[in-house]
Formats: sequence, C-alpha cells, structure tokens
Amino acid sequence: MENNASVSVLNVIKRRKKSSPPLSNTTTYIQMEEITWKDYEEFIKDHSYVIIEDTKLEIGKEWKIKEYQPKRFELEATTVWSFPKRGKWATHYLNAKYRGNWAPQVARNLILRYTKEGDTVLDAFVGSGTTLIEAKLLHRNGIGVDINKDAIMVTLDRLRFSYNTLKNKLKTWTKTYVGDARNLDRIEDESIDLVATHPPYANIIGYTKNSNHKKEGDLSKVGSVEEFANEMRRVAKEFHRVLKPGKYCAILIGDTRRHKHHVPISFRVMQSFLDAGFILKENIIKLQHNMRTTPLWRKKSVQYNFLLLAHEHLFVFRKPEEGEKVEKFKESMRWW
Ligand SMILES: C[S@@+](CC[C@H](N)C(=O)[O-])C[C@H]1O[C@@H](n2cnc3c(N)ncnc32)[C@H](O)[C@@H]1O
Repeated sequence: MENNASVSVLNVIKRRKKSSPPLSNTTTYIQMEEITWKDYEEFIKDHSYVIIEDTKLEIGKEWKIKEYQPKRFELEATTVWSFPKRGKWATHYLNAKYRGNWAPQVARNLILRYTKEGDTVLDAFVGSGTTLIEAKLLHRNGIGVDINKDAIMVTLDRLRFSYNTLKNKLKTWTKTYVGDARNLDRIEDESIDLVATHPPYANIIGYTKNSNHKKEGDLSKVGSVEEFANEMRRVAKEFHRVLKPGKYCAILIGDTRRHKHHVPISFRVMQSFLDAGFILKENIIKLQHNMRTTPLWRKKSVQYNFLLLAHEHLFVFRKPEEGEKVEKFKESMRWW
C-alpha cells in the first residue's frame, strides 16, 4: 500500500488558485473526485472484474510479481521508438488486455528522461495505470485521472503491491481521481513535474460503453476531428496550467484513415498544444505492434490500395520558464 500521508501532497492536491483564469465552459465538465484505497477495498467486496469496452479485467486477486524492474532496459536515444514486446515486470503483465494501453517502456523512458526521484508525474488519461506503476517503481509521486471509475479501480488494483526499497526515503505517494482531463480542478497551478499521457482518439475504442459508472466527457466518443482538436485544446490549457515552468508534457496520439485517406489527428493535437503556449521539444515516432485488426486489414490494404497505419506520434512539449526569452524557439512554437 502507498504512503499517502506526505506533507508535499498537500501542495499539489488543492483546489485551483483563485487567481487562475477560469476555464471556458468548465460548468460542463465533471469535477475531480478522489478514489481512495478505502473506496477500492469496498469496491472489490462485490466486484471481481470490470469491463472496459468489451474486455473483462479481473481485480481484487493476490497477484504474483516475478520481478519489479525490467531485466534489460536502455534509455531510447533516437526519435523512433519500438517495443515489440510490452514489458511484463511488476503488475504490467496484467494490463496487456487493457485496450489502448501504452507500453511501460514508453512511460519509463519519459519518467527517467524528464524527472528525478521525488518529482510528481501526472497521467490524466490513466487507463489501467501503466504510468503510475512506473512512477511508483521509480520513486516518483503519481497522480492518475480517468473519466471511467472502472479504469481507476483497475489502476488501484495494479498499484496494490509494496515497493519500499531502502532508496525510497522520499516516501512517494499516489493519488487517483475520477475526473475529466479538461478540468483538473483539484490540482494546484504549477505543481506537476511531468505530464505523461495517452488520450483516446478517433472514436476507435468506446472506453465507457460498458461502464457501471457512466459519466459525460469520454473523449473516445468524439468522432469529429475538429471537435476533438478543440477538446484537446482545453486539455492542453489545463496541462499548461498545472505544469511547473520549464517542465515537460508528453502526449502519445495517433492518426486515422477515412475514405482511404489519411486524417492527421496528431498534427491537429500538436497545434492545440502549441496554441496553449507549449514549445515542441520532440516528435517521436512510436511504432505500433499487435494491433488487433492487422491480419484482416493487411489483405484489404492491397486489395483497396491504401497503407495501414503502424505508428503514433509521441510529442514532448516544454512549458517555457517564467520570463524566458522564447524568440529563438519561434520555429518550434505556434506559427499562425
Ligand atoms: C488510451 S487509454 C489510456 C491507457 C493507459 N495509458 C494505459 O496504459 O492503460 C485512454 C483513457 O482515457 C480515458 N478518458 C476518456 N476521456 C477522458 C477524459 N475526458 N478525461 C480523462 N480520461 C478520459 C478512457 O477511459 C481511457 O481509460
């Protein structure tokens, strides 16, 4: 179990500062509600699984952990990342079934490159908790938010292991919330060291369609690219508000095809983030493996003459320092 009682948590988990400009239209977004270990313990008394989209995920069991750290791990050094085998250490092996999960190697690379021990990492589309598991194993504080309470239950379930190495004198903590990434009202301005997240996109996976806890705001339901880019602009504004100056925000997002043509959702999302005031630090190509539909679509790709999408973009943005002269970065910033 986590030690949630650290003093530093109070500095992060507070209501938005009164001085912060209100988000436009916040009234339509749900407020963050903390889901505690007690809530989780109550939940598993009468739930042995949850269904996310159409996948059944077991919770509440005593999971076996073979190893807490990857056997071999090297920090990525180029702009092409490929992890044909999803990491299985700690409780990650349980989450391969969570649709749209990202590999723990992605989270680990981001956390190691952009934070230090004791820092706070936010994943506002936390899903099955991959980012928070990595934050815990790497002695960082973690905050996870998801619109779907069932996903938060999976996250807490996968975090239910002790990992108190002697090194962790920092007493790091983890907090989880049901909430909407467009309204992070319980997170203080400039309190986060890294945002690392993977939103749903292109109406591919209906995350809350089988949820017991239906809430408005599931962005996986947004089919229009225009609308999605606008919603992501609100997400970007919130990420910009909660991040400390000079710190990084990494977002993994893919594209889609419609009518046999490419729809560049990722570039629209990149624009939304530049619009919010971020500077583009990296544009990483993340190769996709094990896509459910590949065998069927491979055949169709030849038959109907189009290429299968097999990559996503992992954008890393930097929030400028207070008063930083950004003129020299103008080609990596909003240009329109
Ligand atoms: C691609 S999955 C994230 C997977 C996660 N990285 C993992 O490894 O398990 C996207 C998640 O975003 C959640 N979601 C959808 N709309 C949201 C919103 N407005 N705010 C917060 N979470 C949302 C979905 O319920 C889903 O769990």
